[in-house]
Amino acid sequence: MESVQATKQRFGIIGNDPKLNRAVEKSIQVAPTDISVLVTGESGVGKESIPKIIHSLSHRKHGKFIAVNCGAIPEGTIDSELFGHEKGAFTGATQTRNGYFEVANGGTIFLDEVGELPLTTQVRLLRVLENGEFIKVGSSKVQKTDVRIVAATNVNMFEAIEKGKFREDLYYRLSTVEILLPPLRERKDDIHLLFRKFASDFATKYKMPTIRLSDEAIILLEKYRWSGNIRQLRNIAEQISVLEQNRTISAASLHGYLPNIGRNLPAVVSEQKKDSDFSNEREILYKVLFDMKSDLNDLKKLTMELMQSGNTQQVQKDNEGLIEKIYSTKEEEEILFEEPEVSKTEMLQITSTPPSPSTLKEDDKYHFAEEIEEEETLSLHDKELELIKKSLERHKGKRKAAADELGISERTLYRKIKQFDL
Ligand SMILES: Nc1ncnc2c1ncn2[C@@H]1O[C@H](COP(=O)(O)OP(=O)(O)OP(=O)(O)O)[C@@H](O)[C@H]1O
Ligand SMILES: [Mg+2]
Repeated sequence: MESVQATKQRFGIIGNDPKLNRAVEKSIQVAPTDISVLVTGESGVGKESIPKIIHSLSHRKHGKFIAVNCGAIPEGTIDSELFGHEKGAFTGATQTRNGYFEVANGGTIFLDEVGELPLTTQVRLLRVLENGEFIKVGSSKVQKTDVRIVAATNVNMFEAIEKGKFREDLYYRLSTVEILLPPLRERKDDIHLLFRKFASDFATKYKMPTIRLSDEAIILLEKYRWSGNIRQLRNIAEQISVLEQNRTISAASLHGYLPNIGRNLPAVVSEQKKDSDFSNEREILYKVLFDMKSDLNDLKKLTMELMQSGNTQQVQKDNEGLIEKIYSTKEEEEILFEEPEVSKTEMLQITSTPPSPSTLKEDDKYHFAEEIEEEETLSLHDKELELIKKSLERHKGKRKAAADELGISERTLYRKIKQFDL
């Protein structure tokens, strides 16, 4: 059996923490079997290497390895992507398509962000796991496949089960063996090691001398919370490597690169807290803007449905929840705007005042309207990004909590994170 050290070297895994070593050892042990494995751990801890190790050390290594990001595929097409579809199964299905489970026959499928799978897809997945059977969308023919499944998640699956978002039977079937990757803050001894490795890689990449940290900077580095884990550490090592003229980094200059250090390291700097405090008036306004945008989208959807179906009563019945939500948000907004803390002057400061359209020529009016629209879109985009960032920081990267706070679905939040490259 390949040793833990050799495997880490082969897959570029840095660190000597006993919990990390145990995770690699477990991967080596389960690899030759066909047991389903669930890899868990916070965002950015390095979950993606585990399925690769398992596949490469298994008898399936010459077969296909397909990684599917379950959160990134729209709900409407995921069944077809995974299991394929028959020609004519739905509008646009002009040809029969083989899904990943058919293509990966004899190999391994890595289901990343498995907690995001829609419930209907979970039923299909359970069937494949139990007896290797699946049916293409729009077909009635049962097909067989021999695929090993490794899944990964950074969400609390028990919470998802409790909320009825994930099937308990599927969870147990997927997690016959669970491999947990520890967060970086629980692997203190690995932090500087990883930083040095990244610093050296970026020095080569950007053809600059390698940065090194002062003793105080090392202490700061090890005390920081690293809620984005290794991905965040790597990102900061890259920024410093590119931007710092002085190649010996002091604690003070490192400090400038660590976001929300007030919240993540309360003992060291408390005066920064004020800046990053979430509950100021501006925040409230951003939230209202954000909610309004989401309501507008809901309304657009409703209008489209009404236009397409013509059956008002049915559409109303199907959208009861949505209609109720729109009414209740409206009331909330009124209350928010009435809050005395948000003064009119402050509101004006963040609202641009356009010149009166009556003074413009017809042509200008047209361009002006276009410009305003663009400006509004841009600023909404920025606010949305800022709000998402803050909410994620506040909930330490927990998407579920952030999505709840923002009043959007986890799936939408997930797409925004990808879209904004957060
Ligand atoms: N032990 C490690 N040594 C070197 N690089 C690592 C290590 N762990 C993670 N990385 C690097 O950190 C980055 C994030 O890792 P990865 O993409 O596997 O995170 P993840 O756990 O899948 O996170 P998410 O849940 O957000 O998808 C990658 O660039 C990866 O190569
Ligand atoms: Mg990942």
